Order: sequence, then C-alpha cells, then structure tokens
Amino acid sequence: MQQLSDVTALAYLLSAVLFILGLNGLTSPVSARRGNLFAIAGMAVAVATTMFAPDMKNYGLILLCVMVGGSIGIVIAMKIKMTAMPQLVAMLHSFVGLSAGLVALGVYLTESGSGPPDTALMVEIIAGTIIGLITFTGSLVAFGKLQGILKPAPVVFGGQHVLNSLLALSAVFAGYFFTVSDNLVFLLVIWAVSLALGILLIIPVGGADMPVIISMLNSYSGWAAAATGFTLHNSLLIITGSLVGFSGAILSYIMCKVMHRSIFNVVFGVSSASKTEGAVEAQTAEGKSVKTTVVEEVAFWLKDTGKVIIVPGYGMAVAQAQHAVKELMNVLEANGVTVKFAIHPVAGRMPGHMNVLLAEADIPYDHVFEMEEINPEFVTADAVLVIGANDVTNPAAREDSSSPIYGMPILDVEKAKQVFVIKRSMRPGYSGIENLLYYRDNCSLLFGDAKDVCESLKAQLKAM
Ligand code: TAP
Repeated sequence: MQQLSDVTALAYLLSAVLFILGLNGLTSPVSARRGNLFAIAGMAVAVATTMFAPDMKNYGLILLCVMVGGSIGIVIAMKIKMTAMPQLVAMLHSFVGLSAGLVALGVYLTESGSGPPDTALMVEIIAGTIIGLITFTGSLVAFGKLQGILKPAPVVFGGQHVLNSLLALSAVFAGYFFTVSDNLVFLLVIWAVSLALGILLIIPVGGADMPVIISMLNSYSGWAAAATGFTLHNSLLIITGSLVGFSGAILSYIMCKVMHRSIFNVVFGVSSASKTEGAVEAQTAEGKSVKTTVVEEVAFWLKDTGKVIIVPGYGMAVAQAQHAVKELMNVLEANGVTVKFAIHPVAGRMPGHMNVLLAEADIPYDHVFEMEEINPEFVTADAVLVIGANDVTNPAAREDSSSPIYGMPILDVEKAKQVFVIKRSMRPGYSGIENLLYYRDNCSLLFGDAKDVCESLKAQLKAM
C-alpha cells in the first residue's frame, strides 16, 4: 500500500474518530443532532485532507464535479419532502454502488498492460464490481418500489433461486478467468451478471421485508465503499465503508429480529409472501361493513377518558400533522387525560421515521414508547387514535398465514376499549392489503386528512 504522509494519516484518523462519535450520537434521539455534527466535521476533514493530499491531480475536473454534484445535492436537499427520504436514500445507495463499479473498471483500465496482473488488485476489482453493481441495481429497484414506479408487492417466479445461484456461480467463474487471463471481456461479464443479480435479489422482497432490505442495501453500499478503498489504497474509505457496512448489517439484524423475519431469506431474496399478488388482492373482509364516525363524536369520547394512546403512521408524515398532533396532545393533557405514543419499528417509510417527526414537534421523549413497551398497555387504554397508520395495526399479520405481512408483529390496538382510525379513504397501506382491524366492533373510521382532523379535534375539545 502506498505510504500516507504523517499529516494525512493523522487527519484520516481524526476523521475516522469523528465518524465513530457521529454513529454513537445517532443511537439516541437526544444525542442525534450532536452525532450529525460530528459526522459532518469528520466528512469535512476527510474531503479537505484528500483534496490536499500530495498525489492529488486534476483539480479543475474535481472542482467541476464538486460544483455540479454539490449544486444538484443542494437543490434536492432543499426540495425533498420528509416522506420521500427513503427513496432518496435508496437512490444515494445506488450512486455508491455505481461508483464502486466504475472505480474498479477505471483502475483496471489504467493499470492493465503495465506489467503482469497483480492478483490482489484483480480480486479487489472483482469484489468492488460485484458488491457495487448488485448495490446499484438493487437500490434502483428499492427506489422504484418506494416511489411507486414499481409495484411494492413481491415478484416471484418458478426457478428464481436456481437462476440466482447460476448467476452467482457464473460471476465466480468469470472472476477466476478474469484473474488468470487479464481479459476485459470477463470483467464485462461480471458487470452484466452483477447488474442482473441486483435486480433479481430485490424484486422478490416486498411488504414487511422492505424496511429490512433498505438497511441491508445501506450495508452493501458500505461494503462497496470499503472495496473501493482497497482498490484505491485509501485507508479512510476502508474504515468508513466498514463502519457503514457493519452498522447497516447490525441494523438489518435488529430489524429482522423485531419483525420476526429471517435474515437469510431477506439477503437471498426469498419472499416471505406465500401468495401471488392476485391472491393478496382477493383477501377482503367480505360481507362486513366498517363503522364511521365524526369529529364531534370522537371529541366527546376523548374528553372524559383517562388514557389515550396515539399510533402515528405514514399518513401523519404525508399530512405533516405532527405539530397538530402535539397541540391535540396538549389539549387532552390539559383535560387530565394521560397521552402516550406507540411507535412500531417500521411505521412510516424509514427506520425512526415517526420518532423524528414527533421530536420535530417537541413531543417529550418520555411520552414515546416502542412496540414491546406499549403493547401490554393497550388493554388499559380507553381510546386509541390511529393517525395515518395502517399495516402496523393489521391483525392479518397474526391471523392470515397467506398475507404478505404474516408474522410481522403489530401494535395491539384492538385490545383498547375503543379505536379511532384517522385516514382519508378505504385505500390500503404500503403492503396493499385490507386492514382487518377496520371491521372490529370497537373500531370506527374518521375519514379526513390527518392534519385537518387533528386540528378540528383540538378545536372541538377546546370548545367543550
Ligand atoms: P401504511 O400501512 O403505508 O398506511 C399509511 C396510511 O396513511 C394509509 O392507510 C393512508 O390511507 C393513510 N394516509 C395517507 N395520507 C394521509 C393523510 N394525508 N391523512 C390521513 N391519512 C393518510 O403506513 P404504516 O402503518 O406507517 O406502515 C408502514 C408500511 O410501510 C409497512 O408496510 C412497512 O413495511 C412499509 N415500509 C416501511 C419502511 C420503514 S423502514 N419504516 C420502509 C419501507 C416500507 P388513505 O390513503 O386512505 O388516507
């Protein structure tokens, strides 16, 4: 490995320490802002050190790329809605993957012909290409599913796993021939196979497995960056990539555990849905009808209750209702009602989505409870307000073994005396299936935009 100057090595070490402090800060909402500042400082040190490294060339080209990429990044960051963040993250992962593939190709084209092939370098190039390009197309498919361009339901077909295994084997063989023959054609075969594998591994994932696959792709993007670090002999990229790779893998493991999913199945693209999409759509609560209610009735019910649990979901994020929810909480508490918030690990569209929104509205952390903590409490709640949440409350996860969300733990809202669900229509949630909760005797639907309804409820309660 090329020798780093002492100053560069020291600056890289400082940067790595700042990244670790950043990750540590992100372990709790209380320290998350500080964690982000550490990570920003780490990145600033890393970029500055790399720019002023003794072997740096082509400043003009680098500056042009920074200006173009940076400007696009600033515009996207200003315009992006919080609800579209997961798609953006998936897209950014795809960029990391593509750059890993391109760097590997670039290094090969630069180094080839300058002497006998260096086996270690060839292996690094192969690893960077495979991991990078699987991450690239896999993340694009995840982006398409989250953006609604592709159907979120799992896509499964006969012989899928045999095909995946054959492709993986051909990548290994092509890698072997590439290393011994030093022939570009084999590298291009690895490109084609990896691009296809990325698509094939992600299309069978859907429903309750989607959040896990996003953190898995996050982990892959880290490994792709680490592989690039080996190819470029850049120790900081190896450290940073490994940090992202390991933290993404740990997050995926934790999510699989709480969601009762097998990490093996998610990684190898084994769908947890046992039905085809058509069969999923056929699942209805036929012959039953839902009860609807109005703001006045709900306010009347809430006014004299002892304990209300609020369950926020993706719809709260769409409506940007978090501040209205906070005001509703204030009015309820002023009336002597105990208010608690129940957070499902995959509510919304990204890990911690609801926690971020509630923190933004200054809802005290001691009011916010994770699923395991709050589930035993639903039985003691007088009312539950489900605000734009759907899949995370669907009893089909427990009762219908053919459902794509079967096995996913849910919030036990139906155990409360009364459940009010605020949503705009009978449209399903992300998984595309009907919610059996809506047909329970103690459940009423309050149709409307989450923000409007919360504001009306607050006004009604104040007027009582
Ligand atoms: P969903 O099941 O997606 O349901 C959201 C509900 O919000 C919908 O029923 C929708 O009904 C309602 N809604 C939308 N806009 C609204 C508005 N303006 N006002 C009121 N209601 C509104 O959400 P969830 O319960 O939070 O579950 C999350 C789902 O996303 C899970 O299936 C999870 O697997 C998946 N997912 C999660 C993640 C992560 S990491 N969290 C990542 C990818 C996928 P209407 O249209 O009728 O209003």
